[in-house]
Parts: sequence; structure tokens; C-alpha cells
Amino acid sequence: MSGSFEGNRVVRDTGCRFPIFNAPVGYFARGQLAGAVSAAGGMGLMETSSATVLEATAAEFDLVRSHTAAPLGLQMFLRVLKGQGRVEEVLDWVLDGRTPLLVTCVGDPTPIAVRARDAGVKLYHQIGSLNDALRAVDAGVDGLIVEGAESGGLRGVRSPQLFTLLQQVRSRVDVPLVAAGGIADGYGMAGAFALGAEAILMGTRFMSAAESPVHHNWKQAIVDCNVTLNTDPGMGPIRMRVAGNELAEAVFRGDIDPAGNPYAGPFLEAFEHGRLDKALVGCGESAVLIDTVKPVREIIEDTVATFWQEVTRLAQLLQPGSAGIV
Ligand SMILES: Cc1cc2nc3c(=O)[nH]c(=O)nc-3n(C[C@H](O)[C@H](O)[C@H](O)COP(=O)(O)O)c2cc1C
Repeated sequence: MSGSFEGNRVVRDTGCRFPIFNAPVGYFARGQLAGAVSAAGGMGLMETSSATVLEATAAEFDLVRSHTAAPLGLQMFLRVLKGQGRVEEVLDWVLDGRTPLLVTCVGDPTPIAVRARDAGVKLYHQIGSLNDALRAVDAGVDGLIVEGAESGGLRGVRSPQLFTLLQQVRSRVDVPLVAAGGIADGYGMAGAFALGAEAILMGTRFMSAAESPVHHNWKQAIVDCNVTLNTDPGMGPIRMRVAGNELAEAVFRGDIDPAGNPYAGPFLEAFEHGRLDKALVGCGESAVLIDTVKPVREIIEDTVATFWQEVTRLAQLLQPGSAGIV
């Protein structure tokens, strides 16, 4: 049985068919991957900071647009763009009729919220704690991407896990929530919806998709991954989750000092050339749930089908005589 996402606020805000986002991971979530997610009915999110000139981002965006008219969201990593002195330039471009959705992270969304509202663009902000969520809602954002500590990427040592964070945030705010961290399929999606989310965002699942621009060795390392390690990249109270391979174990034991380099080696050597002896494979805990490289469309279709299957299974607990009724 399948249901409908009609009435879902994230679908209403963005115009996507399925409330499933790819994570706006630097280098990964460029036109090729984000465009494939949009074309398959999900909410593609394209990041704007790893290509350091706007012309490159704009060219990829236009290429996606030449293949699909489906909504494509844009993300601004505020601290990185600020460091590059490009916040205003990118913001002007984003808000110039290109997208229904801007996503921001790591920085104050207050001035952006005013500009987005004037431009008729919805603004969602990525948060990893209740305090960040409350501040963002006070700043006037329209929705939140709630990232639990299961996520890949850089996280604070105090970051809460998604299971508690979602419940905490949903009890205090009334904006649409997109759940991120530890979700790789429709089981995770059903769980996130039960806790108050109206959409999910998957990083590791889409990073290992057929259309992901990363080297095949990286994708295979995700498929092979049975455990993730929360390594210390030498950046203070920050941790980075990585696939538990030989190099990661050496870093974890302290045999290799990763100080100053969050990827403990030249990231692009791994990204472009598959040199997993040189750089760690960043991924979320969800890597342990992934056992094949699949095309984006299949990932989305399988996730939606399993989601409705699980919702139906739970609804059946209400039937008289079922195991759920006492
Ligand atoms: C290797 C890696 C790098 C990441 N880098 C970024 C980033 O540059 N910007 C960002 O907003 N999120 C980044 N994230 C976090 C994702 O946005 C998202 O929260 C996370 O992937 C969700 O967890 P999942 O991978 O289990 O689905 C990164 C995640 C991974 C795995």
C-alpha cells in the first residue's frame, strides 16, 4: 500500500514529489548528484562553496536545468562562504528566481531570512542542538534540518543523537523538520516521521549512489563498512566519523596524527583517485546499512516503498486482534 505526501509542509514549501533530500556535502553535492535527486522526484540540494568561483556553480546549475525542471534547492555554508568573501555574491545569485529553497548552515541566518522572505524563497537552516534550533526559528527561518550525531562530517563532542534531538526540537518549535543522520532507507524514514520529521536528508546513502562524483573505491568502502569510528581530527572538541578501515584504525589508536587536516590526508587523492591508503573515508553511521551502490532513482523509489510498507505495518497494530491491541 502507498499513501500520499499531500499536506506535507516540506513538499508544499519546495514542490518536490518525495520529501527526501540529499545532503549538501562539499564536493559531492554538485550538479551531477543533486540534479539526479531532483530528477527522481526528491529534493536535490546543491552546495555552493566547494567551487570557489560562482561561474562554476552557475554552469552546473544551468546544466541541471537543461535536463529537468524539477525543483533544485541551493545550500550556503555561511562560514566557508564568509571566509571566501562571497556571501553576498552567492546570495544574490541564489535569490534571483532560481530555487524555491535556500538552506544555510554554520552561521547566523538572521540577515539571510529577511532577504529570502523578500524574494519569496523558503529558508531552512541546518542545526545540531536545541539551542541552535530555537535561535534559528527566532531568526525567522521557515524550516530546520535537524542533524544528529550519527551524521557524517564534522560534529561537536557534545552533539546529541537524532533520536532525542528530534523529539526535543519538535516539542519546542512548529516549523517543518527534516531529519538527518543515520538514515539510509524507508525504515529510517518511517522512524524519523514517527519522531516528528516531515522529510529526511541522506548524506552517506547518496554519496555512495551510482551518480555520486566520488571515486568507486570510496563508494565500495561504504558498502564494505561494518563499523564507523569517531576520530579526532585535531580541531578541538570536534569529531569526524569515518569508515573503520586500516588507516582509520591507525588514526584512532593515535599512531597517525591527523592534526590540522580533517581528512587525515589529501582528501582529493581519495575523492578523485580512490587512494584510501592516504585519506579517511568520511561517512555517517548509516554506512553500515548500505550494501550496494544503486542509482539515485532506485534509492528514492525503494525508500518511499519501504516507508509506506512500514507505515502500513504500524497502522495494522490498531486492528482488533493484532499484537498491538491489548
Ligand atoms: C564526509 C561527509 C562530509 C560532510 N560535509 C558536509 C558539508 O560540507 N556541508 C554540510 O552541510 N554537511 C556536510 N555533511 C553532513 C551532511 O549534511 C549530513 O548531515 C549527514 O551526511 C547526514 O548523515 P548520513 O550521512 O548518515 O545520512 C557531511 C557528511 C559527510 C558524510
